[in-house]
Amino acid sequence: ALHHHVELMVYVSTVITGLIFVVFSLITVAVCFPEYYALFLDTFFNGIVYKGKTLKAFSSPTFPFGTIFHKINDPKNWMARSLEFGKDHSGFHVEWVLHKAVLVVNDFDLVQKLLGLEITIKKTTRKGDETLPVLKKLFGKGLFMIRSHEWKRQHRVATRGMGSKHIKAYTPVVIEVIKRVVQDIEKKLEGKDEVDIDVLEMFQSFASETTMRILFGGELSQEDLLRTGKKFCDCIFEGMRPINMLTLYFKSPLPGPTKLRNDIDELHAISSEIVKKFRKDMKEKDVEEEGGALLKALCRASDEGDTLTDEEVVHNVYAFAGAGIDTTSTGLTHLMITLAERPEIQEKMAEEILAASNERDGKDLTIDESLAGFPYTSAVIKESLRLFPPVGALPFRHCTVSNVKLGPATLAKNTPISAWIPTTARSESWWGPDAKEFRPERFLEMKEGRRGESVDITHPLGGKFLTFSGGVRSCIGKKLAAVEFRSIVAMLLEKFEFRLLPEHEHLAKKDQHWEINNFLFKPREDRCCLRVKRRVN
Ligand code: HEM
Repeated sequence: ALHHHVELMVYVSTVITGLIFVVFSLITVAVCFPEYYALFLDTFFNGIVYKGKTLKAFSSPTFPFGTIFHKINDPKNWMARSLEFGKDHSGFHVEWVLHKAVLVVNDFDLVQKLLGLEITIKKTTRKGDETLPVLKKLFGKGLFMIRSHEWKRQHRVATRGMGSKHIKAYTPVVIEVIKRVVQDIEKKLEGKDEVDIDVLEMFQSFASETTMRILFGGELSQEDLLRTGKKFCDCIFEGMRPINMLTLYFKSPLPGPTKLRNDIDELHAISSEIVKKFRKDMKEKDVEEEGGALLKALCRASDEGDTLTDEEVVHNVYAFAGAGIDTTSTGLTHLMITLAERPEIQEKMAEEILAASNERDGKDLTIDESLAGFPYTSAVIKESLRLFPPVGALPFRHCTVSNVKLGPATLAKNTPISAWIPTTARSESWWGPDAKEFRPERFLEMKEGRRGESVDITHPLGGKFLTFSGGVRSCIGKKLAAVEFRSIVAMLLEKFEFRLLPEHEHLAKKDQHWEINNFLFKPREDRCCLRVKRRVN
């Protein structure tokens, strides 16, 4: 019996060693010979058929990450090559995200199709939260993450909190927070001619405070607003770290994940309590409709009997914060660096802003100005959002059925589809021969739509302006974002000038201040510090 036992052990360990050796050899081949790794992925995981054949990526994937680092390491070259490849492939190219082949669309007509009801809602769904467990726990049941079949009901209710009446009511909150930002700069400038400021940090604190105040209104004290805002941003930051994308790690009893889960539970507990209290008040007395808190609008809004559950309201509070804070601060930082690189444009904006300020005798910005004032300034903001869109990859749509047709492509079930927004902005076929130039006048010259529509920061211009996406599931917070951009730019440029640090002056207008970070289009951290001076009028 002992003899048999030993024999069995020798046999099992030989098999295990053999398997380890095979796996190790396969990994070595995948790492050293990307073309074989590409062949393997194309054979077993690529569900994208183009004109009868598997559509392959134009560069071989790197084990195990796919092609994402090619884009991160050399983004300009990547975008140029994807456009070139697209010319012969109906504007398509393929990217490997780990072992997933993603169809990326650049052709104008096909992007519009992708954004329409038929593909975005009926044949595909979002499910990014499956790979981002922290975000799933934070706001998986909220609008941003929700699956297509549940989307319509939530969207109908949530849009009520973002209607024009509400945006108007949120505007004074935005202006209050900007006054705090202006005071902070003035304090830093006390007794000095100029001061160097990290504008990304400044805009992050602006966007976080504004969003938290709009969400919670007077329901949280200022101290609690700032504390919960910071906690929320820290959770998102942690959630995007690769290690935290591993579901098992996030669920483990290790100290890091445990703290993260506790932090999210605490955020939810705070919001749940407010939701419960507010709903009780609503039942007891007929609470007057007043703006100032998106959370109240989400509790109150109902449509054809649809109401959000308490849990859905809480998840939506954080969905709005998650979708609104980083995008706004990133976009504002891109804009300010771009203006520091172009003092002539900054001066022209200041002229427009100062003329309006003189007309109201230096009093506060009016709500109408925040909502739709300053045509030249708005055109500059829009041009910056066009060329430097904070969200690089359109959130993936995953096919829910097989044989999904998009132009000449046929896609298998579960295949993700996306568009790379900065590439469409730099494509001559979308924007003409000066597509890559920073030229705000393009919006003033446009004849499309009603008068003034082209400088409306959120207007999609027939689907060409993709920064806030388009079609059925486009950004629900874009009007609020436009108010935030217009107001803070007007209030900052009225008082201050922003310049590049002397050591960065040689980089001006070289289109180099940005980088690609995962699916986002970010300003480079080492370019975010700008020199700020008081404006002399
Ligand atoms: C410059 C600022 C912003 C940019 C560039 C931006 C961009 C986007 C993009 C590209 C999408 C994806 C749409 C799609 O998949 O088709 C999106 C969705 C969304 N955004 Fe924004 N956004 C911004 C600001 C905001 C703000 C301020 C809020 C709210 C406070 C917000 C809330 C949302 C929500 C809730 C969604 C999900 C909509 C849905 O799935 O129906 N965004 N945004």
